[in-house]
Formats: sequence, C-alpha cells, structure tokens
Amino acid sequence: MKNIGIIVGSLREGSFNKAVANYVSEQFPEAYQTTFIDFSKLDIYNQDLDETPPESWVAFRNSVKGLDALLFVTPEYNRSIPGGLKNALDVGSRPYGQSVWGGKPGGVISVSPGAIGGFGANHHLRQVLSFLDVYTLQQPEAYVGHIEGVLDDGGQVVDEHTKQFLDDYAQAFIRWIEKF
Ligand code: FNR
Repeated sequence: MKNIGIIVGSLREGSFNKAVANYVSEQFPEAYQTTFIDFSKLDIYNQDLDETPPESWVAFRNSVKGLDALLFVTPEYNRSIPGGLKNALDVGSRPYGQSVWGGKPGGVISVSPGAIGGFGANHHLRQVLSFLDVYTLQQPEAYVGHIEGVLDDGGQVVDEHTKQFLDDYAQAFIRWIEKF
C-alpha cells in the first residue's frame, strides 16, 4: 500500500481546491491510500525556534516523512502560493540537511475561479519544489480555471470535461509514482 499525501493550499471551509482534491483522491487505485496533510496549526517558521522545535513542526515533519508521494492542490494568492502553504514548505525543509520533502514524486494542481487557473501559483510552487528535490509530474499540467462552473453547490465536481481531465491526471500521476 502506498500513501499519497494531499496538501491543499487553502484553509477555507468551503474551499474549491479542497473539493477538487477530494475528487482526485477518489480516483486512485485501491493499492493507494491518501492522507490529507494539515498545515493550519503550524507556527510561522523562525530559524531560532529550531533549537527546540515547536510540537506543531515536529508532528508536521513526521506526518510528511512517511509519505510515498505528494499531491499539491492550491489556489493562487496574488499570483503566487498562499503564505500558509509556503510556511509549511519551509517548516518541512529544515533543519538544514533534514528536509522531509526530498526524493518524493509530486504533482501540482492549481484551481481558481479565474480564467488562467492559478498558473502563477502553479509555477511558483514548481520552483520551490524543484529546490526541495520533489520530482514533479511535468505533463499533463493542471490549471483548473472557472471552477465555479465545475462544481455544484455541494462541492461535487459535476462538469464532465473536468472530471475526465482530472481522471486522466490521476492516472498519469500514478504512472509517475510507479516510476520511482
Ligand atoms: C485571491 N484570489 C486569486 N485568484 C487568482 O486566480 N489569482 C490571484 O492572484 C488571486 N489572489 C487572491 C489573493 C487573496 C489573498 C485571496 C483571498 C484570493 C481568488 C481565489 O482564487 C479565490 O478566493 C479562491 O476561491 C481561493 O481558493 P479556495 O479557497 O476556494 O480553495
């Protein structure tokens, strides 16, 4: 059994990104389990605190360490990734030499009500993941725009074209993980 960690960049209760992440998590084969990784309680990274790291950092680092793959589903904030997600990436990357990210296969999906589907966030995230030595699936790229027309009021993915795209993405991601 392989474990895919899903990291949603939005903390919003009714998050569109969470809705898409929920849908994709249900498309993986039975041999894969998914774990949603919560970064909402992380103290803001401060290198001084790493002498005696806060419990929230220790628990977060441990929750990522055992994962076989990482799927990020994120909104775009001001043409980049949300600060909370960047903080989580920073916390997991330290202490120096003990990053919990390196060597894992990863995927990036960005979701937005806008037309360009969070392109800026998607590529800023890829830049960070490249430095963190997370091997991101290159194709297909996943920019899910106009999301409000894709979901119903209950947060279910109902647009058939998007469902097919996300199903194909999930399969490509599994093929990518299996290369490792
Ligand atoms: C946004 N939003 C946004 N959307 C976008 O496509 N590009 C952007 O640069 C931004 N910038 C931005 C900044 C901040 C601070 C907020 C709160 C929002 C809109 C954003 O896509 C929208 O709120 C989504 O609904 C957020 O995703 P969730 O929370 O629904 O998953």
